[in-house]
Amino acid sequence: MKKGNFYITTPIYYPSGAPHMGHAYSSIIADVFARFKRNDNCNVYFLTGTDEHGLKIQKAAEKAGLDPLSYCNKLSKVFKDLSKKLNLSNDDFIRTTEKRHYNSVNDLWNKLVKSGDIYLSKYKGWYSVSDEAYYNLDEVIDKGGKKISTFSGSEVEWVEEESFFFKLSAWQKKLLSFYEKNEKFILPLSRRNEVINFVKSGLKDLSVSRTSFTWGIKTPNNSKHIIYVWLDALTNYLSALEYPNVEGKLYKDFWPASVHVIGKDILRFHAIYWPAFLLAAKIKPPLRVFGHGWILSGDEKMSKSKGNILNPLEIIDNYGIDEIRYYLMKEVSHGSDGNISLNSLEKCINSDLANNYGNLCQRVFSFINNNCNGIINKNKNLSDSDKKIINETKLLTKNLRDFMDNQNLNNYIKSVIDISFLTNKYINDEEPWKLKKNNIDKMNNILHVALEQIAKISILLNPIIPLASNKVLDALNIDPKSRNLYFLDGKKIIPDKAKIKPLDILFKKINS
Ligand code: MSP
Repeated sequence: MKKGNFYITTPIYYPSGAPHMGHAYSSIIADVFARFKRNDNCNVYFLTGTDEHGLKIQKAAEKAGLDPLSYCNKLSKVFKDLSKKLNLSNDDFIRTTEKRHYNSVNDLWNKLVKSGDIYLSKYKGWYSVSDEAYYNLDEVIDKGGKKISTFSGSEVEWVEEESFFFKLSAWQKKLLSFYEKNEKFILPLSRRNEVINFVKSGLKDLSVSRTSFTWGIKTPNNSKHIIYVWLDALTNYLSALEYPNVEGKLYKDFWPASVHVIGKDILRFHAIYWPAFLLAAKIKPPLRVFGHGWILSGDEKMSKSKGNILNPLEIIDNYGIDEIRYYLMKEVSHGSDGNISLNSLEKCINSDLANNYGNLCQRVFSFINNNCNGIINKNKNLSDSDKKIINETKLLTKNLRDFMDNQNLNNYIKSVIDISFLTNKYINDEEPWKLKKNNIDKMNNILHVALEQIAKISILLNPIIPLASNKVLDALNIDPKSRNLYFLDGKKIIPDKAKIKPLDILFKKINS
């Protein structure tokens, strides 16, 4: 019996240039939660994809000398390839140029028209093509002769054109009461406060169509208008579930979404516009929006326009995908921004992966393979130190589900790596190699406890470093179907007579 349904999404990426570490970061976070929930026996649907309409993409295509669709076909593939390279376990990859998405956007638009939330008028104000966002007059400053958004730092341009508007102002009170009723709709809490303050300061109606360019989805009853790219893009989360077919299995199982993982720069769209559109269309809003911080490079957001990009593909080729996944998840504190560098990546690989988890596995496996023919029988009487490490591990695993349910990945990793550290210390203190001649029963118990510890740590690290942890679990002869979190409820993983296979080195230490 599955425990429940869990629908998790990444932002769909603008294929307006080569992917960078910020993109990789957003995707890996979502992948870790998806894998954790699968290991916890949930029915998981994990979505990623590309956001292909709007002026930003139209301009990128023009620059590349291609028509927009050919350009998107080419660039969307680059992001799809990246998802494989990042070892994402996504169930679907949606493109907003697909028919299923058009059906879904048209339906949502029609619902908003029908509910009386859309009206025709004229937009006069600032627009940032790079953010695909409208900014208020007080959000724009003059900098070096250019008009810049104080929110994002991107350049804005003055726009005056006929436009359909969404009556966002009418949703201000309803949104505030929605946030109040759903305390964990926005995490971390600091971001929730940011959003609530913004909404309290007053919401203006939102321009939801453009007439000065053509690359996008036309409004159903007026082909002069292109639907605002954010209304188009956000709907991808529904399109992938075959909306408007609300009687279909996918939609019934997975809507409302459990978590939209996003970066803090796109919080307004997900935490304000998106629930307002959905409430207006009488569709349940998602359960959670998790806004992570930015990856910084020398204190600045890493982005194409700033030219400070670390190329994920190059780094993966040089260091390995598990290594990058672990580093990004461990080092960058999830609520806030984090600076990354090759130097701290190497330090992290050495300290946590090579010297801690890798070393633990290697030393236990080599000893058992070299001295016990790969077989360890557990005996009855566990010593006080055996019991102590088992209990300490219980304590450290107590809050793990809770951490993951609240997207507190930093504390999760810290607890797991502490278990590995404690297990290394237990082996150092117990010195099983000294017991081979005189107390083989005690030695066997220590090694058996160590194997159980390694199995637990590997299952817990599995969502973060799937390749290495699966190598260890293979060498422990643990069936892929049994690599789940039942041990958190007291189930043993390793049989009393444990048979193991040889294990190759998991992580190479980096000498710099
Ligand atoms: N297309 C929109 C999302 C639409 S979702 C309905 C978009 N695309 S994006 O390609 O610009 O960004 C995708 C994700 O990458 C966002 O969550 C964004 O926050 C994240 N990152 C982009 N640069 C980043 C960093 N330097 N650091 C961390 N994440 C950042 O926005």
